[in-house]
Amino acid sequence: MTTSQLTHRLAQRDDIEALKALMDAAISENQRPFLDASQIASSRMIMGLDTQLVEDGTYFIVEDDGQLAGCGGWSRRATMYGGDQTPGRSAALLDPTKDAARVRAMYTDPKHTRKGVGRLIIALCEEAAKAEGFTSMELVATLSGEPLYSACGFEIVEQMVDDRGGAGVPLLQMRKSLIGDFPNTL
Ligand SMILES: CC(C)(COP(=O)(O)OP(=O)(O)OC[C@H]1O[C@@H](n2cnc3c(N)ncnc32)[C@H](O)[C@@H]1OP(=O)(O)O)[C@@H](O)C(=O)NCCC(=O)NCCS
Repeated sequence: MTTSQLTHRLAQRDDIEALKALMDAAISENQRPFLDASQIASSRMIMGLDTQLVEDGTYFIVEDDGQLAGCGGWSRRATMYGGDQTPGRSAALLDPTKDAARVRAMYTDPKHTRKGVGRLIIALCEEAAKAEGFTSMELVATLSGEPLYSACGFEIVEQMVDDRGGAGVPLLQMRKSLIGDFPNTL
């Protein structure tokens, strides 16, 4: 029997090339049960690395026995989703007294899915956002991401389709309160 040993740390600039490779594999492989090939190709326009998160110190890496297993983070900035290449991003700072912090750019290496990597990152994001005074979190989920977010207590508030990359990619805006009786998953 093997047991996995998950550890976490903040991503640094030196990690960026390895993160891009992990994201590329996760986009191709982990979305296959949810999207067709043209939708996966199209999703590359609206997914991937947002280096602002690394610069902000709000982007986590999870390692499994020292191997890069996944990444994801949160943001105190307005952008809801997308990578560096996605048009229409906004670096405007959110107001914790009235805005929801964002969960951003969650990717697990296909060799490390269903080990709790995503769940651990969400718990880290919630803890960090709460520490800055945010009382809720929002995100825009792919169909591949939705089961994770639902398992972590997020609820769907809106369905949408983004076709800026070609084929329409279904997306779900989801929200979670950080106050009240949601279980702490850390
Ligand atoms: C979304 C993603 C990051 C999930 O990562 P993960 O590390 O495998 O998730 P976890 O192991 O923490 O899953 C926690 C729970 O979420 C749910 N879940 C996660 N992936 C699931 C799937 N493919 N099918 C059904 N439930 C799933 C389960 O309840 C799971 O708990 P369980 O394994 O004990 O049943 C990963 O699938 C991925 O990289 N997808 C492609 C990129 C993407 O679309 N990211 C989201 C952008 S919004």
